[in-house]
Amino acid sequence: MVLTIRELNYEDIETLGSWLISDPDFPGDFSPFAWEISKESFLSKVQENLTVPKTVEVKFYTVQRDGSPIGVMLSRKPENFDYVEVGYYIQPAERHKGYGTESLRQFTDFLFKTCGVLRLEAGTSSLNVPSQRILEKAGFTREAIRRKTLFRNGKWEDSYLYALIRE
Ligand SMILES: CC(C)(COP(=O)(O)OP(=O)(O)OC[C@H]1O[C@@H](n2cnc3c(N)ncnc32)[C@H](O)[C@@H]1OP(=O)(O)O)[C@@H](O)C(=O)NCCC(=O)NCCS
Repeated sequence: MVLTIRELNYEDIETLGSWLISDPDFPGDFSPFAWEISKESFLSKVQENLTVPKTVEVKFYTVQRDGSPIGVMLSRKPENFDYVEVGYYIQPAERHKGYGTESLRQFTDFLFKTCGVLRLEAGTSSLNVPSQRILEKAGFTREAIRRKTLFRNGKWEDSYLYALIRE
């Protein structure tokens, strides 16, 4: 089995769209969905990214197992800052097999090599244990608790800020 990550291309948009639109489990229970944007605007952001890559701060990647897509990774570089945020989704049928951890490790290596930053960040709900686990297994440190940052299902949730520093 070979796991690889590469930038998303036009052919991948259809696959990503089908996961987003037809699979309600794809975003997961805890994700403030991709920076709180709708599925449609998420897809148009992907399209925009491919059309005018230099003008957008978010980049999309596909995770492939033996050449078939099983997930999506995102990087976002906030304007005027020199760090990168990461996001990750593994297709529901492929979760709990170690792919999230392995692809996040590969992704962080790739970002450190290509983005010229020393810090990668991720935010996650305090209830999203799988997300916390893969961050910790990929070497991230929990730096902060951000109290009452997510309002879901009628309740306020805390979230955690994680970071990985290139030493
Ligand atoms: C987060 C996500 C990418 C993890 O991918 P994955 O391929 O399942 O990750 P792995 O198999 O490498 O590791 C999952 C870990 O979570 C643990 N886990 C899975 N479900 C769990 C649960 N319900 N409760 C506690 N731990 C759980 C697994 O045991 C494993 O940890 P371990 O190795 O210490 O045993 C995947 O769950 C996902 O796509 N979720 C929806 C999107 C999402 O929430 N993204 C993050 C937004 S911040």
